[in-house]
Amino acid sequence: MSAASTENDAGTEPRRKVMIVDDDVTNLLFAKSALSDSYDVYTAPSAAKMFSLLEVVPPDLILLDISMPETDGYEAIRLLKADGRYAGIPVIFLTAMNNPQAEVNGLSVGAVDYISKPFEPELLRKRVEIHITMEEQRLMLERQKKELQQFNSNLMRMVEEKTSRVMELQGAILSTLADLVECRDDFTGGHINRTKEFLRVLAGALMRAGLYPELVAGWDLELLCRSSELHDVGKISIPDAILLKKGRLTPEEFEEIKLHTSYGVQIIDRMAQATHEAGYLRFARIFAGSHHEKWDGTGYPAGLKGSEIPLEGRVLAVCDVYDALTSKRPYKEALSHGTAVSIILEGRGTHFDPLITDVFGSVSREFSF
Ligand SMILES: [Fe+2]
Ligand SMILES: [Fe+2]
Repeated sequence: MSAASTENDAGTEPRRKVMIVDDDVTNLLFAKSALSDSYDVYTAPSAAKMFSLLEVVPPDLILLDISMPETDGYEAIRLLKADGRYAGIPVIFLTAMNNPQAEVNGLSVGAVDYISKPFEPELLRKRVEIHITMEEQRLMLERQKKELQQFNSNLMRMVEEKTSRVMELQGAILSTLADLVECRDDFTGGHINRTKEFLRVLAGALMRAGLYPELVAGWDLELLCRSSELHDVGKISIPDAILLKKGRLTPEEFEEIKLHTSYGVQIIDRMAQATHEAGYLRFARIFAGSHHEKWDGTGYPAGLKGSEIPLEGRVLAVCDVYDALTSKRPYKEALSHGTAVSIILEGRGTHFDPLITDVFGSVSREFSF
């Protein structure tokens, strides 16, 4: 028998290729005649010839004899499975070793099926057809899985890009709005940005300190800081005559100024309604409504007391007051960092949450930048 031979009928559909490996020429020819009508059949009389032939024509399935001189079927399949180029080709053992243990051994080393000789040609055709179909389906599923993974990762990337674009846009809108408010108020130039950076320090320290763990668990520091930019957005509704007044405010004017907290909540509610982004604006709403509340209940707008005041508002209150104390106003000079820190520490338990005041004390150096 020659090293290998092939049969190939011309056709529109590419015919599947089957390789038969057997040292017995009679068996080779018998198996070949059983399959030639349906497949391109390649024959090899030894494992060594099979490997040479594989270099040229990788088949869709291999029928492998077990008892062969030199390299037997077990060793041949081990070599096939160890080679990435051939490991996926289904192998059916075709052998005269007709006992259950040999069958178990054959299947254990990676064969997909085991056919005993002598065999019915029809049975061989059916088994070959089944395993080629199964392999094709497996490959198709693998392809579809890869395509699906590719599709998913593209989709994820698109969603991430869109989300980050929306976040950028939201951030830009918030900053622009905060800038607009601040531009109207000549006296507090930079207040919004400074307060935001103080908040980054104090809220970050609070998170690290492990205080109020259940409340802090829902914090996203970046969103928290960005949201603080809107804490005075309600000032947009305060008349110029009051907001821009040089000199101390009358009690009535101060009452009007105090409304910037409630106005702020209303403005943020309108924004949330219009944009369906209540989640994104949740911190902004809390900051606007609660940054002037005091721990002892003497603050505004609601006169909330202690832990009734949202934690976010209690933290921002410290930052807001620190900036007010260290900033120059038409009616007062800027206080030094040390004096401002002392005033805030004195407000422990009256104006400010005691625990937050302690954390402020431990990081106050970072406020002086
Ligand atoms: Fe305010
Ligand atoms: Fe403020």
